[in-house]
Amino acid sequence: DCDPMAEASRGALELLRMLDVELGVLGVGSGRTVLRFLHMAVDAGVEPGVAVPSSFETGAAVYGLGWTVGDPRVYRGVDAYVDGADEVEPGSGYMVKGGGGALLGEKILASRSRLNIFIVGEDKLVGRLGERMPIPVEVEPGFAAMALAGLEELGLKPRLRTSQGKRGPVVSDWGGVLVDLHTGPIEDPRDLESTLRMVPGVRETGLFLGLADYIVVGLSGCGYKVLG
Ligand code: A5P
Repeated sequence: DCDPMAEASRGALELLRMLDVELGVLGVGSGRTVLRFLHMAVDAGVEPGVAVPSSFETGAAVYGLGWTVGDPRVYRGVDAYVDGADEVEPGSGYMVKGGGGALLGEKILASRSRLNIFIVGEDKLVGRLGERMPIPVEVEPGFAAMALAGLEELGLKPRLRTSQGKRGPVVSDWGGVLVDLHTGPIEDPRDLESTLRMVPGVRETGLFLGLADYIVVGLSGCGYKVLG
């Protein structure tokens, strides 16, 4: 048996080599998988260049690995962006992200990158998004109550995200408040995305639709497959 996360990371490195992508300026998502990928890239001899991180955690990790850290707020688009995901619908390539709370930076970087590669273990594949986890959204901190009411009225079962050791909401790296929507399996993710965007106070959603050029899926039986 193999570690699907490692298989996916290996697959992403091979894919980038095959596509002849310059890794000089790399956008980097958040989470265990993409950090694993970075370590593997360094071990494979990839020379650290500039990395534009989607989160504080990723920024610290790429700095530690020798990359020059680019400012995600002003970077003029990256050659390639690599990230993990929480749920993937294989047919559509639609994904849920933001389990770690980094969805805002991730979505903006992915939207401004020329090529997006997502890496997941096969345990992240689902029939329908929302099947296994709630959909994270980031809302305006000053209007969180209003945003929650709006989401509640739509029947989306919003829950303020909290963490042990702190009273009150979990605040993102960009100062927003994280809310999880307990929707259950989603019939029409595009429809939900446009509905969410119209709720006053919602900053960004963890639905990543049409953003993946390739999704590398690591298999527990060893090896990987590439969707896209
Ligand atoms: C961070 O907010 C998420 O969007 C991550 O991309 C996602 O949670 C994947 O993380 P793991 O690789 O740790 O599962």
